[in-house]
Amino acid sequence: MRISSFLTKKFLKSLFFPAHNRGAALPKRLVKLLKNSPGIWDLPELPEIGSPTSKSGLIAKSQRKLSEKFKVKECFFGVNGASGLIQSAVIAMANPGDYILVPRNIHVSVIKICASQNINLIFFDLEYAIETGHYRPITEKWLKNVFNKINFNKEKIVGIILVSPTYHGYSIDLNPLIDLCHKKNLPVLVDEAHGSYFLFCENLDLPKSSLLSNADLVVHSLHKSLNGLTQTAVLWYKGDLVNEQKLIKSINLLQTTSPSSLLLSSCEESLNDWLNKKSLSRYQKRILEAKSIYKKLLQKQIPLIETQDPLKIILNTSKVGIDGFTADKFFYRNGLIAELPEMMTLTFCLGFANQRDFLNLFEKLWNKLLLNTKKSKSLEVFKSPFKLVQAPEIGIGIAWRSKTQSIPFSQSLNRISGDIICPYPPGIPLLVPGEKIDIDRFNWINNQSLCNKDLVNFNIRVILK
Ligand SMILES: Cc1ncc(COP(=O)(O)O)c(C=O)c1O
Repeated sequence: MRISSFLTKKFLKSLFFPAHNRGAALPKRLVKLLKNSPGIWDLPELPEIGSPTSKSGLIAKSQRKLSEKFKVKECFFGVNGASGLIQSAVIAMANPGDYILVPRNIHVSVIKICASQNINLIFFDLEYAIETGHYRPITEKWLKNVFNKINFNKEKIVGIILVSPTYHGYSIDLNPLIDLCHKKNLPVLVDEAHGSYFLFCENLDLPKSSLLSNADLVVHSLHKSLNGLTQTAVLWYKGDLVNEQKLIKSINLLQTTSPSSLLLSSCEESLNDWLNKKSLSRYQKRILEAKSIYKKLLQKQIPLIETQDPLKIILNTSKVGIDGFTADKFFYRNGLIAELPEMMTLTFCLGFANQRDFLNLFEKLWNKLLLNTKKSKSLEVFKSPFKLVQAPEIGIGIAWRSKTQSIPFSQSLNRISGDIICPYPPGIPLLVPGEKIDIDRFNWINNQSLCNKDLVNFNIRVILK
């Protein structure tokens, strides 16, 4: 089968990203554009259009309007996902040899840019819920403990990244944490890939958007948490701690010379659509419906996990002795396609389309799953193997460039990794280059491999002795 043939395949229900639900919730203006003669919109960087870093043209104008609206210094559309803009933000904050502080639930894009740019990482651990296998959001108290463990005079720490909300939608007010960072003169990049729509929903008792906080840089994935096409994203620039010219240079460095005009238009429309009163009230209705779906499923005794993002429906399959991967296969076979299977849970993303028929279908399949699936008594996630603050044994850039050999993971105990081990989704690394595979890490990864087929009998590249 050709890719093009697969792209129009119909599923009973697609509850994965992009959040426009296979076109159902695309902004009307974008739908109109796509209805034109095929490909007519595929234009190069004509002077009238410009690019995200040019001073004139339609893109610059649109970015300027949005910056004024949200009272930020500047914003930049991106066509290589939140990944690309996060990477630009990282190299705007840090030079080769510098250190940045990152949480253990950091997205793999950060690891890759640090490896390639020789930027050193110091990880801080997060609270980890054994019942779900999910990281909890970081609190002010936790961050204070992290800071107490760090000798800020020793390493040149030049920035910190916070992830909020998490993939599952856990979130907390970041302002007190950002204040703590600013007291140390650390610029803060917030990876808000999953929370773009919070910006437009202050009235719905959702987490406060980081854009309204005192963060220095915020990245939104427009296809994950607004109605953009895949790859669309936006970077918001605030504060005085990151140099503007360095930021623009960094965006230019990683950006293609031929950004897609369709994707750039999608960036603009996905944001502007939420500024339109009629569309906004439709989307807000979807969010209220999602809250009601959650409540109704709970009333039916379906084990769900609550997070701060109503658009994520998270089934705690472990409560009935079923792992999330097995449940995922079952739902997939039955036409209900989820976003994120994990050992204890399965996450569905409702997106912005009307999900009226979801409730009954979900309940019916859940009952069928219970009847037809073998249950296991011994589902458990191992305790986090991480120290509160920990840097890789060898600098990530050095490890990335070292000579390595490929060996079965089962033989890798006490070796230094030359690899990134990172199941996707969610794109959170279990191990990065330069880290030692000590007994705790070894057991923890082995434990995860019990259900995750990506990790079964896999090989790993370790640094040659
Ligand atoms: C927390 C987080 N940040 C960033 C990204 C990257 O987003 P994108 O797919 O838009 O590059 C992801 C993607 O999974 C993510 O989960």
